[in-house]
Amino acid sequence: MKAYLVGGAVRDELLKLPVKDRDWVVTGATPGEMLQQGYKKVGADFPVFLHPESREEYALARTERKNGQGYHGFTVYSAPDVTLEDDLKRRDLTINAMAKATDGTLVDPFNGQQDLDARLLRHVSDAFAEDPLRILRTARFAARLQPMGFKVADQTMTLMKNMVAAGEVEHLVPERVWQEVQRALHENEPGTFFKVLQDCGALNALIPELEPAESLADGLNALRCSHQRDLPTEARLAALLSPLASLEPGTAEHRARSLKAPNECIAMARLVSDAVSALTAAKPLEADTLLKLLNDSDAWRKPDRFQVLLGTLACVLPSPSLANLDQLRHAYEQSASVNPQSLMAEGYAGKELGEAIQRERKHRIQLAIDRAKGNA
Ligand code: CTP
Repeated sequence: MKAYLVGGAVRDELLKLPVKDRDWVVTGATPGEMLQQGYKKVGADFPVFLHPESREEYALARTERKNGQGYHGFTVYSAPDVTLEDDLKRRDLTINAMAKATDGTLVDPFNGQQDLDARLLRHVSDAFAEDPLRILRTARFAARLQPMGFKVADQTMTLMKNMVAAGEVEHLVPERVWQEVQRALHENEPGTFFKVLQDCGALNALIPELEPAESLADGLNALRCSHQRDLPTEARLAALLSPLASLEPGTAEHRARSLKAPNECIAMARLVSDAVSALTAAKPLEADTLLKLLNDSDAWRKPDRFQVLLGTLACVLPSPSLANLDQLRHAYEQSASVNPQSLMAEGYAGKELGEAIQRERKHRIQLAIDRAKGNA
């Protein structure tokens, strides 16, 4: 039996990038022999084991063939006669299909090293088309490696276009799509992910509202800014979806939901979209509008989330509306210090207390507005 380092670890080592997980492929062994040597079985669908000491993953060499639609429609074949090359051949991109023997020899039957040097993301074989998730993976690697000069090879782009045209993207499990989108939002150039998806037609299936060139450009600008500010996932998604604020109310929230984004992302998409609509309105902001935004965003009980909202809005709003954002920030600072205890001491309780708090907050916001007007 022989073990080879494979996949991302080999790629990243050659690119002189930090290696995260080290995955291994084992040839010439049976599951029984692996267990005998102390490996622990972890894969339910594939013969994958954990090394008894390093805890790194060792997978028996396998082939996969698609036999149905969707993600589960694969037949896996694994036996001691499956070669390393067979295993590498089922992989997505040539730069991910290299192996390194324990003596350091590179095994590279699909010219991954050549593509690394040429900065090309190229599919290994037509088997790429058997797994539509690879469209998203390729876009994600483009987003990660774009600063190093990588791009999707023309033939691979053509293949991805054909897959999209054949309706493959519709068969993707939404949870897996979200997993890729979420990771892409934190890659070096997140915008590249969405540009590649647009180039191959997949964006139209995933976020059709961003298909108009102007919407995509605005969404990607906002996303770039949220990336530069190192904002969390929910801010990045909300920034990307911010152009949807000009559509039917609720569109951004609905899109985040159908992408199977977690609740905090859905909420942020809604808050950003609502705030954009309110803060870009031409008329001067009124105390009621500001108080409503603060109440709707639950700024009092979720101050950290409110700061993320402000940071996102700074990336999203057109310059003429940034003064309105300052006003919102100010309104929060003025009204956050309203103290329920002192109102209780004045004898307020229950519903009346709630109303008195709101009145006091509105009063302070109004004072701030008047003061700003006086200064203008
Ligand atoms: N792989 C594949 N097709 C997929 C998923 C994975 O061909 N849909 C192969 C690739 O060879 C990949 C390896 O399995 O290199 C390991 O997958 P994964 O750990 O998801 O990716 P990495 O390449 O290690 O990338 P990352 O740095 O993002 O973890």
